[in-house]
Amino acid sequence: MALKLAVLVSGGGSNLQSIIDRIEDGALDAEIKLVLSNKPDAYGLTRAEKHGLPSVALDHTAYESREAFDAAMVEKINACGADIVVLAGFMRLLTSVFINAFKTIVNIHPALLPSFAGCHGQRDAADYGVKISGATVHFVDEIMDHGPVIVQAAVPVLSGEDGDALGARILEFEHRIYPQALQWLAEGRVTVKDRHVFVADAGKPKAPITKPGLVNPPLEEGF
Ligand code: GRF
Repeated sequence: MALKLAVLVSGGGSNLQSIIDRIEDGALDAEIKLVLSNKPDAYGLTRAEKHGLPSVALDHTAYESREAFDAAMVEKINACGADIVVLAGFMRLLTSVFINAFKTIVNIHPALLPSFAGCHGQRDAADYGVKISGATVHFVDEIMDHGPVIVQAAVPVLSGEDGDALGARILEFEHRIYPQALQWLAEGRVTVKDRHVFVADAGKPKAPITKPGLVNPPLEEGF
């Protein structure tokens, strides 16, 4: 049965688009029940409309506290019937009101966690001078950018590259690993023990990596 998603965005929504595209081309067995944004002008909402997906904007500035905003989001998400909450460039800190309301919340981060957590993972990695950065899909817990890691893509940092250039190349991998992680979840292949995430039979069929980089566990056909 298709995995029912609530996707939360704050901005451009290119990760949302990659999820939509993989659903539409049949690689990802999922259904988007709701796209929710805390920014009424987020382009992610326009993407949802273009694909006929239900969407809602809840302007966080209209709420008196983080908890009140989170409670409003919980209500909308519960009403849409999603199995899983997918944070895709959602730029608000979540309180326990939100975290405790759902069994499964996942996030994508543009760095190799636990390095360079926070809002500027790409820029911080480029400024620090690391030679390899990347992207991480992880479960969400009460600590920001902290939950168990599902999949990571390693992306070499090119000489003299700034955060924007690095971020653009990392984003290409984000668009592959996020739908892949969701498909593993849709297939019921993911288990978690303490901080360790196991993907059953991971690493068998591989899709070719066309850009420099490395994904672990390897991508499968269609991603
Ligand atoms: C991505 O880099 C994601 O990793 C981070 O925010 C960015 C969102 O990009 N959390 P988009 O809105 O999906 O294009």
